Amino acid sequence: MTGNEKTAGLLMCACMLMSSLTLTGCERSEPARWTPSELVTELPDPALQDELNKLVTENSGTASTPQLVTQPNPTFKQQLHLKHGQAVYRKRCVQCHGENGDGNGEAADHLYPRPRDYTRGIFKFTSTPYGARPRREDLIRVVHTGVTGTSMPRFNRLPEKDIKAVVDYVMVLSQRGELQFQLAMEADAAEELDPEYVPEFIEDVVNRWQQAGSSLTQPLTPQPELTAQRAALGREAFLSKGCSKCHGDDGRGHTKDNIGSDSWGYPTRAADLTSGMLRGGQQPIDVYRRIMNGINGTPMPGFKAAFASEPDTIWNLVAFVLQTSNRRRYQEEIPAGLMKPYDTLANTARAQKANAGSEGGAAPEG
Ligand code: HEC
Ligand code: HEC
Repeated sequence: MTGNEKTAGLLMCACMLMSSLTLTGCERSEPARWTPSELVTELPDPALQDELNKLVTENSGTASTPQLVTQPNPTFKQQLHLKHGQAVYRKRCVQCHGENGDGNGEAADHLYPRPRDYTRGIFKFTSTPYGARPRREDLIRVVHTGVTGTSMPRFNRLPEKDIKAVVDYVMVLSQRGELQFQLAMEADAAEELDPEYVPEFIEDVVNRWQQAGSSLTQPLTPQPELTAQRAALGREAFLSKGCSKCHGDDGRGHTKDNIGSDSWGYPTRAADLTSGMLRGGQQPIDVYRRIMNGINGTPMPGFKAAFASEPDTIWNLVAFVLQTSNRRRYQEEIPAGLMKPYDTLANTARAQKANAGSEGGAAPEG
């Protein structure tokens, strides 16, 4: 063995060791491969499966020629850009989000919340109305900042070029997944894919993503100063407008009702607003958008319609949420709170009485 070969061998060992330790060490040598989702492989008719896979490939390419449904016939430059995004993805994202972007990476089973499954086109922290797709800027932002309080890292030191490319590749996986999902539902229900309707499914995917691009939601009123007085008004609204039903009177989310499931079929809880780690961002506008638009794929509803006639209440709630969120940071104690909402004074008195009798346990039903 020459010295060079030895060094190469050692490097390879170190590399394998590193990648087995961190899952990210070296780029994997085997080429990327996408596989059909379970919804497809469970279709009883293999010919229908083939037809469906062919349609998906025609519109999203293959893992070696990835393509956006919204960008048919990509130029060579666009193709290179997406391949670059794929390389970044396979180095930094795949261990959590999985090769198909279905959120089933090797690490996924150990994480709560689970890594996002992109294949439904549903994203949580968007600046678009409830139910809409995200804007590209929303995804760029989330990759920059990460999701505080979850395992989603921030990638703020990646070059801008890499971030844009990886986000566009996430959009490829998302649009591919969405089209596949729609077609699989149709194939399952109708036991065929009528060529007359197929173009509509493709158009739907394209339209949803294109609409999102121009659906930035702006606050109903400009942001006022977020004073303690506003926070106090916000607290009243929090208790009387249904927030505490899920988040608890104290914002910790320890209510009995507070267990639901998300659009991906996993259990989820209302955020602990006292944790000091707002996932959707710490800026007033971030919190505002969570309240106004709700959070896609979760039980958190949008309150735009509810506060249409009193838009300032949203800002009051923002003031309260931020005050609540920052409380631990300033080491203020979180007062012990009842687990159940009590909206009337009578209820409060009853609950307190019951609590006194049960050493501070949860308030009774009712
Ligand atoms: C260690 C695991 C991990 C790695 C690595 C990781 N993510 Fe995530 N990611 C997560 C988790 C967990 C969530 C879900 C957070 C939640 O539901 O609040 C998430 C969410 C997301 C979201 C969705 C945000 C939204 O608004 O719904 C995007 C987009 C995303 N990740 C992109 C990426 C990209 C791009 C990379 C690589 C550059 C990456 N992630 C690497 C764990 C990871
Ligand atoms: C039906 C139950 C429900 C109701 C009612 C509800 N929420 Fe939520 N809320 C949730 C859930 C669930 C989440 C967490 C979503 C996630 O990140 O997975 C959440 C998240 C949030 C967040 C984001 C926290 C973060 O980490 O960024 C804020 C802010 C919030 N809620 C405020 C409110 C306010 C204010 C109200 C009342 C106007 C309200 N919620 C009503 C269930 C609810």
